[in-house]
Amino acid sequence: MEPRDTVVDMACGTGLNFALIEAGLGPEGLLIGLDYSPGMLSKARRKIERSGWRNVRLVQGDAGMISE
Ligand SMILES: C[S@@+](CC[C@H](N)C(=O)[O-])C[C@H]1O[C@@H](n2cnc3c(N)ncnc32)[C@H](O)[C@@H]1O
Repeated sequence: MEPRDTVVDMACGTGLNFALIEAGLGPEGLLIGLDYSPGMLSKARRKIERSGWRNVRLVQGDAGMISE
């Protein structure tokens, strides 16, 4: 992982991995968290707000439905 990369955390849940990813990515990268649970995503959203991350986008969706 390089600064300014784009990383997708599939089935990100509450965003447990976000801090680790952010440490490697830096503020100029983009982190996309995908999960199909609205409840998990709202917890992830609170974590993003608490942490002040401005380069994280959350997507509600089914990872199994992603095709090339
Ligand atoms: C055990 S949690 C792990 C979450 C996170 N990666 C972590 O390390 O804390 C599994 C997560 O996968 C999500 N999930 C399971 N199947 C999924 C799918 N097909 N598409 C998107 N999210 C899915 C669940 O909603 C749940 O938030």
